Amino acid sequence: MTINILSEDLINKIAAGEVVERPASVVKELIENALDAGATSIYVDIKNSGQDLIKIADNGKGMTEEDARKSILRHATSKIKHTEDLFSIETLGFRGEALASIAAISLFSLITKQKDQLEGFNLVLEGGHVISEGEVGCDEGTIIEIRNLFFNTPVRKKFLKTDAVELRHIIDVVTHYALLHEDVDFKLTHENHELLNAPSMENQRSNVASIYGVSIAKELLEIDYEDDLVRIEGLVCKPLNSRNDKTQQVFFVNNRWVRSKELTDAVYEGYKSRLFVNKHPIFVLSLTLNPQNVDVNVHPQKMEIKIDQIDEVRKALTQSVVKILEKHNLIPLIDLESEALTMGAQVRKTYTFEPSAQTTLKVEESTAFYSDDSFSSNSNSYSESYDGGSYVTPEEEVIEKGNYGKISESVKEIEQVVEKLPQMKIFGQVHKTFFVAETEGGVLFIDQHAAHERVMYEKFMKQFKDASVDVQELLQGGVLELTAAEKVLVEENIEELARMGFDVEPFGSNTFILKSVPSVFGRLQPRDLFHVVLHELVVGRNTLQELKELIITRMACRSAVMAGDELTINEMTKILSDLQKTDFPYTCPHGRPTMIKTEAFELEKKFKRCG
Ligand SMILES: Nc1ncnc2c1ncn2[C@@H]1O[C@H](COP(=O)(O)OP(=O)(O)OP(=O)(O)O)[C@@H](O)[C@H]1O
Ligand SMILES: [Mg+2]
Repeated sequence: MTINILSEDLINKIAAGEVVERPASVVKELIENALDAGATSIYVDIKNSGQDLIKIADNGKGMTEEDARKSILRHATSKIKHTEDLFSIETLGFRGEALASIAAISLFSLITKQKDQLEGFNLVLEGGHVISEGEVGCDEGTIIEIRNLFFNTPVRKKFLKTDAVELRHIIDVVTHYALLHEDVDFKLTHENHELLNAPSMENQRSNVASIYGVSIAKELLEIDYEDDLVRIEGLVCKPLNSRNDKTQQVFFVNNRWVRSKELTDAVYEGYKSRLFVNKHPIFVLSLTLNPQNVDVNVHPQKMEIKIDQIDEVRKALTQSVVKILEKHNLIPLIDLESEALTMGAQVRKTYTFEPSAQTTLKVEESTAFYSDDSFSSNSNSYSESYDGGSYVTPEEEVIEKGNYGKISESVKEIEQVVEKLPQMKIFGQVHKTFFVAETEGGVLFIDQHAAHERVMYEKFMKQFKDASVDVQELLQGGVLELTAAEKVLVEENIEELARMGFDVEPFGSNTFILKSVPSVFGRLQPRDLFHVVLHELVVGRNTLQELKELIITRMACRSAVMAGDELTINEMTKILSDLQKTDFPYTCPHGRPTMIKTEAFELEKKFKRCG
């Protein structure tokens, strides 16, 4: 075995692998440097999602020529000096490795000038080696340009996600720092398009408005809490304004954007029972602690931290959320039982019998449908014929007074070919959730939601495949106020969205007008429907092309009748006859069954009529 001492070059590349995971990591490090340098304006310019260019210009205090030369060396920092400094970090950077790491894997240019200098200094490196340097004329501050990122680390380059995903990570970084620093002017442009413009603002709410939109910002509640341990400031949303995703949740600890499950959980704890299932609060929260109580040296990317007395901090956080929500007494508490109901799976539903409108209202209807009372209840051969009743057949939605035997034969013929649903006679709804129908040999239970989902899914899929999506024109086009990330997604996918029936037009800055939606899913509000799509794009971090199937499933799910929706026999019949026409009526698009059958002989057994 021979032990090699690694070259400086190799050491830098290894370290770069930890610090620079993706283009957005570079943006994060450079923004943090600019903030540490006291900048009040930070402009980020990106080309090809960061792969061709990342340029960050700040008006911070700049560097002398001597410092500039040092800044790109490993373990070179102006931010700490002694061991004890490490235990009380007040700056965002401290490791003295970001610039060295970035420079090691790119074509790197730094231009910098301090206030009292006449000329600025320019340093250019390739793969960590200086290739040119000299004086330049420039303003006070620092401009760093990164080109060809990962040019000499091909594996890392290969692992990058699609351009859209990488760009979204960059938007996240800039957006988050812009959210925290209302006194700093942030701009982000991509390929000369302005994605974010957050000029310096007087207060946090106006700042959030310029980033998340006025409609969100004006509804947010302000938290301002302080005890001996922690100060908590920021904005949280009312439960009613919570979202379907977690993209608008940001924590800062001592001005550092951090990820912390513990803190996030503490906020959710504060919302407990006020938040509907699968809804997520919006929050922008900034915690200030004694730097000695925060260990930021956990990971090279500096997004994870360890907080001393975390339990007390969590408690304070939960309490301040609870207090602000109580103060605004916003939504009645969801009682535990109904919450448990919607939580689903393991919880057993407790069905109570409620006399519903259906019992009275549908009597008339039932008589219309089941006009014949010659239903032979004493027949003990369930597959034999009886008269009367309404059937759902492939050809006709309702056959009054059908002859079971005859229909049965014709249906059987068809069944052999297309394997569709058996004919059935619908009796009604159970617990506003299942249809019950008599069928040959037993009873069918149909899950109304699953059945309707399948119907809409296939209807839409067919239209979509034939490029003939039926749309509902919105006369009063809905105005959509989007975040920078959402805006990029919409712009990027505008044509594909149109193919899906969503006609969206830009309407200045981050606003769009929704002019049409696919009519198949008409049960949902147009804007809600659009947000179903947007949500999948935002959280899916994939292209619309790849997510299409999932999105269509989601739209079908969201707009299908739900458990709890009361339906008339007509409506049930319609859903079933539509289901009959689908290619695969037996499961919903997620693969759950649409119907199950209880054999009559099972009933016989239970009633001890046989055996
Ligand atoms: N935009 C800037 N304006 C002024 N000085 C800067 C700027 N960027 C970097 N520097 C100087 O260069 C030094 C090295 O920067 P680098 O990001 O590599 O390390 P750091 O910020 O000290 O620590 P970390 O590796 O944790 O980021 C900094 O300590 C700072 O003195
Ligand atoms: Mg730094």
